Amino acid sequence: MKIGIIVGATREGRGTDRAAKWVARAAEKLEGADVEVLDLRDYELPFFDEAISPQYNPERKPEGAVKAWLDKLAEKDGFVVVTPEYNRSLPAVLKNALDYVAYELEKKPVALVAHGSTGGAQAVHTLRAVTAGALGVSVPRATYIPTMAGMAFDEEGNLNEDLAANPYGPNGALQATLADFQWYATALKDAR
Ligand SMILES: Cc1cc2nc3c(=O)[nH]c(=O)nc-3n(C[C@H](O)[C@H](O)[C@H](O)COP(=O)(O)O)c2cc1C
Repeated sequence: MKIGIIVGATREGRGTDRAAKWVARAAEKLEGADVEVLDLRDYELPFFDEAISPQYNPERKPEGAVKAWLDKLAEKDGFVVVTPEYNRSLPAVLKNALDYVAYELEKKPVALVAHGSTGGAQAVHTLRAVTAGALGVSVPRATYIPTMAGMAFDEEGNLNEDLAANPYGPNGALQATLADFQWYATALKDAR
């Protein structure tokens, strides 16, 4: 099962990459998992300005970073999106990257891991709608990390001691989210 862990923020000094390392290590333990971190910093996507909506453009011929991004998504069986909440929503850079998607997410599971002062709840809420628009299937459980990622994790993606000690904290939530993800990934892959 090919899993893409999407790093949903690109700003200098971001903490989302730390959270993504934590997620990737846990995802690697899933049976049959082949995990790759997909960092939006590696895809210099311009603001989406195509004349026709991607799902309605059979003549579309993406090039450069756009082609690289879409080809990368197409090869995966499912995704875990790691995202901060910016202004009660998902970061614009992540929304822009998802606006390029035509059918690359179709019938594939998307698990959501969010962080922020309010646990990223509004980013998750919005991302579920965006995922459906991109024809992906957001899995029911999500992980909400109730603080800034830069404070929750060290540079290697180790969760801080207080959060790790909490039996209702992020570690348990991530396990539950990934268990959901695996169930849907297996079922959807068979069905596809
Ligand atoms: C522009 C901006 C807007 C933010 N808006 C919110 C918000 O609406 N709700 C929230 O809970 N946290 C908000 N935060 C806090 C971030 O979600 C939190 O610091 C997150 O861990 C940042 O991830 P990053 O370090 O990868 O950018 C905001 C941060 C930034 C930079």
